[in-house]
Amino acid sequence: MKPVERAKYGAAAHAGLVGALPDPFPRTIGPSAVRYLTEIIASGLTFDMMGRFEQAFARELGVKHCVATPGCTPALAMLAAAFGFEPGSEIIVSSVTDYGTIQGLVRENYIPVFADTEPGTINISARTIEACITDRTRAVLVVHMTGLIPDMDPINALAEKHGLIVYEDACQAIFSEYKGRYAGTFGKAAGFSFDAEKTLGSDVGGCVVTNDGELAERLRFVGQSRGGEMAPGFGRKHVVPGYAYRMPQCTAAICLAQLEIIREQVAHRDKMVRLLSSLIAEIPGVSPLPIPDWQDVYSCWMVCITLDSEAFTCGSGEFARQLSEAGITGAGTGRYYLLPAACTFLEENARNKVYPYSMPPASREYSYGADNCPNARDFLENMIRWSTFCEKYQPEHCELAADIVRQVADGNRR
Ligand SMILES: Cc1ncc(COP(=O)(O)O)c(C=O)c1O
Repeated sequence: MKPVERAKYGAAAHAGLVGALPDPFPRTIGPSAVRYLTEIIASGLTFDMMGRFEQAFARELGVKHCVATPGCTPALAMLAAAFGFEPGSEIIVSSVTDYGTIQGLVRENYIPVFADTEPGTINISARTIEACITDRTRAVLVVHMTGLIPDMDPINALAEKHGLIVYEDACQAIFSEYKGRYAGTFGKAAGFSFDAEKTLGSDVGGCVVTNDGELAERLRFVGQSRGGEMAPGFGRKHVVPGYAYRMPQCTAAICLAQLEIIREQVAHRDKMVRLLSSLIAEIPGVSPLPIPDWQDVYSCWMVCITLDSEAFTCGSGEFARQLSEAGITGAGTGRYYLLPAACTFLEENARNKVYPYSMPPASREYSYGADNCPNARDFLENMIRWSTFCEKYQPEHCELAADIVRQVADGNRR
């Protein structure tokens, strides 16, 4: 393998970023964390901290079941396995997201079909989903990018009409609210991430939530007990190729402590991102992400702005470089979020008709690449994100950030 620069994660992804704005690292940790960690050690590893976290998270979100995992990638992978669709099934999924959204679909030999975003926004809609529905579609996996929730009622109505499962990737939207309902409670199930950079940042945690008791049981069996059932006189029999995706007890201790302080943090983030958005909206040629009226609480994970390309002499890459130099820590483009372009193996496999793109199980040809989702492509071309927004922002930081954006904008006007 030729040497490559590997993707970084956690605090390492932020190392060396020195700017004028608050950085999430070192993270604020809930004061009970050490006590919970001590309980695990003192009990000689007999205390079920994972179970305690599951109950607490389910209660906070108002759902019946929480199955804790080591991240959202495994959470969505176990969901994909638990659904048990036939290979070659199409799952409609947001085109702007993280690889973790689709990893499980790929491993189950499902075919991700990327819905385009609604023009001028970062999320998909009932309209863009409808254009992707075929007789092979089985489910729609909706992502709430940056914490913004798409209009879920029409999405659910559309899915119901076509007999499709709706489920969510709520990684970036913990305790965001749409019409008084939390992200993660709109469909059959949802995945959350508690990785070190996320709003409820622990270590490498995540979970699935659902109100469906049978699905929760299946998730524990397939996703946590490796599909192993106890056969009398024999022992474990693995009746399906399952996973051992259990949240580590120490991660559960940190997650539990973080859960105790997150509501206040989310309320603060909501206030700060709305202030920052209003300040950015005043800068000619620059727009904040639109916050829809239905979004009661915006649990913002990252700040994004978009540029009117006609207004400036430079592109988003150079604009972001100047923002970073002027003090906006980690400003950069978000092109890599365009998954049909970022997952180059999908295009290659589809072109070469590698299983499940072979026929059967596929019954038509597929292609990937940026041009399949032109709204998302154009939106991301002009979008700049900056390193994780965090609860440390105060109004003066929002003003400083907007001032920096204004200075860079004024320095590059046509
Ligand atoms: C939208 C989205 N989905 C999935 C993931 C993967 O989550 P994890 O790192 O917990 O596996 C992330 C992480 O960045 C994400 O932002």
